[in-house]
Amino acid sequence: MTTTTLPVYFLIIFCIYLKPQAMAQDENQFIYNGFQGSSLHLDGVAEIHPNGLLQLTNTSNQAAGHAFFPVRLNTSSQNLSFSTYFVFAMVPEIPSLGGHGLAFTVSPAMSFAQALPSMYLGILNSANNGRDSNHLLAVEFDTAKSPEFNDINDNHVGIDVNSLISNTSAPVTYYSTSEKMNKTLPMISGKPIQVWIDYDEGENLLNVRVAPIKSPKPERSLLSTRIDLSPILLDSMYVGFSAATGAIATSHYILGWSFSRIGQAQSLELSNLPSVPRKRNPSEKTSLELTISLITVAVSLIFTVAGIIYYVRRKKYEEIREDWEQEYGPRRFSYKDLYKATKGFKDKGLLGTGGFGKVYKGVLPSSKEQVAVKKVSHDSKQGMKEFVAEIASMGRIGHRNLVKLLGYSRRKGELLLVYEYMPNESLDKFLFTNEKPNLSWAQRYRILRGVASALLYLHEEWEQVVLHRDVKASNVLLDADLNGQLGDFGLARLYDHGENPQTTHVVGTIGYIAPELTRTGKATKSTDVFGFGTFLLEVACGRRPIEPQASPEEIFLVDWVLESWKQGAILETSDPRLGGYYSSDEMSLVLKLGLLCSHAKAASRPSMRQVVQYLDEAALLPERLLDGATVDHEASVEFVMSVPSSFEKSSAGSASSSESTLYRGR
Ligand SMILES: *[C@@H]1O[C@H](CO)[C@@H](O)[C@H](O)[C@H]1NC(C)=O
Ligand SMILES: *[C@@H]1O[C@H](CO)[C@@H](O)[C@H](O)[C@H]1NC(C)=O
Ligand SMILES: *[C@@H]1O[C@H](CO)[C@@H](O)[C@H](O)[C@H]1NC(C)=O
Ligand SMILES: *[C@@H]1O[C@H](CO)[C@@H](O)[C@H](O)[C@H]1NC(C)=O
Ligand SMILES: *[C@@H]1O[C@H](CO)[C@@H](O)[C@H](O)[C@H]1NC(C)=O
Repeated sequence: MTTTTLPVYFLIIFCIYLKPQAMAQDENQFIYNGFQGSSLHLDGVAEIHPNGLLQLTNTSNQAAGHAFFPVRLNTSSQNLSFSTYFVFAMVPEIPSLGGHGLAFTVSPAMSFAQALPSMYLGILNSANNGRDSNHLLAVEFDTAKSPEFNDINDNHVGIDVNSLISNTSAPVTYYSTSEKMNKTLPMISGKPIQVWIDYDEGENLLNVRVAPIKSPKPERSLLSTRIDLSPILLDSMYVGFSAATGAIATSHYILGWSFSRIGQAQSLELSNLPSVPRKRNPSEKTSLELTISLITVAVSLIFTVAGIIYYVRRKKYEEIREDWEQEYGPRRFSYKDLYKATKGFKDKGLLGTGGFGKVYKGVLPSSKEQVAVKKVSHDSKQGMKEFVAEIASMGRIGHRNLVKLLGYSRRKGELLLVYEYMPNESLDKFLFTNEKPNLSWAQRYRILRGVASALLYLHEEWEQVVLHRDVKASNVLLDADLNGQLGDFGLARLYDHGENPQTTHVVGTIGYIAPELTRTGKATKSTDVFGFGTFLLEVACGRRPIEPQASPEEIFLVDWVLESWKQGAILETSDPRLGGYYSSDEMSLVLKLGLLCSHAKAASRPSMRQVVQYLDEAALLPERLLDGATVDHEASVEFVMSVPSSFEKSSAGSASSSESTLYRGR
């Protein structure tokens, strides 16, 4: 070897040596075994050490650091599938206390100037958290439990779409093949941890796998979520990492990273990755340092306890309020007031458990007004805005036979509706139990006319058409003068936003559900009329539409009344508790009208306007026998039975033949 070739030789050696360390190719595939000489875009406290270690945060508190691949990915040029593999390490300042975490991030921009550190992980802030316009996907490795984001613990991985409230999350565990069991993998151990994130566009599946260093890629994903990234990602995006510290700090490091949009991410050369600065052993500390850190721990402990106390107090009354709700100001109640009104939603004040939730009696602290507060559990944010708009507008509905909706409040997963209090509670208690006195025919007839006029008002006379969808005795409340007031109107709309129309759209109660509704899932004025028909019959006959204990020909109320009519004995179906004290004309009108309204063919049913005219005797009921008036009961029963459990709230429970659950109040 001559002296002139020697430098060239070294250069080649040097290049070969350098190549695996930092070798960034194109936007579709790159790999960094350490980050020396890389052109990553860094900001915040992020820096690259001479040995190639990428440090996203140091132990400065309330700080964030970012490192992004500097080239935009053109996501319109090919499919959205990607695969990435990286190794991170987290070295906490105070052993066993993490603060806060890091996130693999796919973002439309590399600038995070507006983002906050701490629980916002340097990617979002309190104003934009949760907005669809963020177009952000993050896989978070979170080492602090932030209850405001529903964090499950202080060592979890989560998939975040536009929000730090994770779509799904899991405690960080891995399956140890040697020990044949799942083991917790503490992220703040300071040891390197491997992560694989794979997205398959064909299956819309995002998989996250985690394992300690030296373990192979696990077969089972820690998180596996179906998600369509196409509406989330824009045509060009950046990929990278964000990390943040809070009141407690952790140094977050990335040792190596590979990424690919054309197949599996390449493996890293684990033995060549830069090493992480060793954590100092506390015993090496000087006694002064030790005293200082003990004081720090004590002080932060005090703050934590104080924080928890504050948090628990706040959490008790915590509610959700969004910008768009401002216009509904007067209709909005504070959760704290409702909590106080109902004495903490104690069972003692429970008025009933109904299709949509529990109803509590309360007295508003300021006005001393008696109210009924309905707690509707509702997790989805979807449709909430429309629904609140609707209930707010319903608050303006003024009809003497509609229970007045005074306002609402919202908490996480819960909607609270505040109604006028009805001292006599629901009609079913008068009709079907001995809890309440018997109602005379005149009282019953007045209730029927009142409810009919309320439905007419909802269908035709108010500024927009409101379908009730669950007309039945238990949804009719009686005021102090035993006037019928229809409650729960429009509430069914809240469940209108499910994905599967076959299973989630139909709301109602078996026996009151029109046959076409079970087929089409589409509620109409006519399906409400059907429910009203059943209601007419139950008030006249004093029994429920389906009575499993009755003799076979009497099980289904509609069939029984129809058969009795055919045999010229329709009055025999009237409620025996009336003891024959009724006007036969009115009784036979109500029974026949009940049959007409429950006609199997929607087109044969009258409108609510006609119903009101018949009841007011302003029009004459057509005196013809109702061919095909029987209801396809089996179809309805089968249908309701097949409705999934999430739907149980409204009607599946009614499919059970047990008396107590056959009908649910309110
Ligand atoms: C963290 O990094 C920033 C920016 O490099 C620096 O100003 C700060 O002093 C560092 N903090 C600690 C505790 O080393
Ligand atoms: C992305 O790729 C497509 C097809 O190759 C091209 O038409 C488009 O201009 C590219 N977009 C950007 C932002 O580079
Ligand atoms: C889950 O992700 C979707 C986007 O696919 C988003 O619209 C939805 O709000 C997320 N759900 C939760 C609970 O965060
Ligand atoms: C490990 O956890 C997975 C779910 O993450 C579970 O399906 C599996 O049964 C667990 N295995 C053992 C041995 O506990
Ligand atoms: C998307 O691209 C990847 C990599 O090129 C490929 O393996 C995968 O089959 C593609 N998927 C679809 C649904 O086209």
